[in-house]
Amino acid sequence: MIKVENLTKRYAGHTAIRDLSFEVGKGEIMGFLGPNGAGKSTTMRILSSFMPPTSGRASIAGFDIFEQSLQARARLGYMPENVPLYNDMRVNEYLNYRAALKGVPHRRIAERVGDVKELCGLREVEKKLIGTLSKGYRQRVGLADALVHEPELLILDEPTIGLDPNQIRQVRELIRNLGKQHTILLSTHILPEVEMTCSRVIIINRGRIEACDTPENLLGQIRTAGGVTVEARIGADDGVEALKKIRGVRDVVADGDGEWKVFTLRVEAEIDVREEVYRLAAQRGWTLRELSQRRATLEDVFVEITHPDVA
Ligand SMILES: Nc1ncnc2c1ncn2[C@@H]1O[C@H](COP(=O)(O)OP(=O)(O)O)[C@@H](O)[C@H]1O
Ligand SMILES: [Mg+2]
Repeated sequence: MIKVENLTKRYAGHTAIRDLSFEVGKGEIMGFLGPNGAGKSTTMRILSSFMPPTSGRASIAGFDIFEQSLQARARLGYMPENVPLYNDMRVNEYLNYRAALKGVPHRRIAERVGDVKELCGLREVEKKLIGTLSKGYRQRVGLADALVHEPELLILDEPTIGLDPNQIRQVRELIRNLGKQHTILLSTHILPEVEMTCSRVIIINRGRIEACDTPENLLGQIRTAGGVTVEARIGADDGVEALKKIRGVRDVVADGDGEWKVFTLRVEAEIDVREEVYRLAAQRGWTLRELSQRRATLEDVFVEITHPDVA
């Protein structure tokens, strides 16, 4: 559905993306992850034909995004990072206007606008001025806009940015439902979001693709397992030094003042250090209140890839 070959974009002297190549298959929900400034929005803007790349090519559903831009654009719905909306238009007016602009046949506009309002939960605000809507509703208007011409592909740039946790959950649910019928390229900085919704993930850093795989495979590849938490009363002992000596422990961070300390251990993937921690505690007479290991998350993958020095 998306094919990107050697895409490069330079802004006056600065290279935002470098030689990107990837493909997104029909029906996939592809996560696009990367720190700020990595080049996510630049890539998405190019794919949506908002600006040309410096070199390289890309196609949507087999149509070259520049040579066959109209056909390509007809098949994609783009929700930009900052959804540009007309504040003095009502939701209904705006969606009707956008549908007409995107070439939805006149006789089908009412039906399409009705459908996307339903899908995006906009019924209760349909007569309101866009300028008076909350951030969450504005995002939904942006999503409804992206969907109104029934594109096969959705390109969503940080669709949950600026939303509160309830709104995030609603938008995430909506995206998951949309994923049943659409191909989606979704950028986000919220890692659990990707783990929950995406079939594959691209990790991009400083304009280059660092990894592209399923969340499970990415988790399987990293050297770090999830952190181990140790909460203990250790008296005057130096817990950090003692814990660091355990085989498989790569780093220890101590927290808490007073007699209880919480240690967060970063450990190697194949080694369960908890038995050794328990033995150490017994030897030294520490009182343990917690000794637990959480599983690795995409956040660990992300940190390892984008900050290898810390990982
Ligand atoms: N219009 C522009 N002019 C110059 N530099 C830009 C422009 N837009 C983005 N950049 C730069 O390109 C890089 C990638 O930006 P962007 O694609 O917005 O990253 P992301 O969306 O991953 O945060 C950044 O270093 C950013 O400062
Ligand atoms: Mg961005």
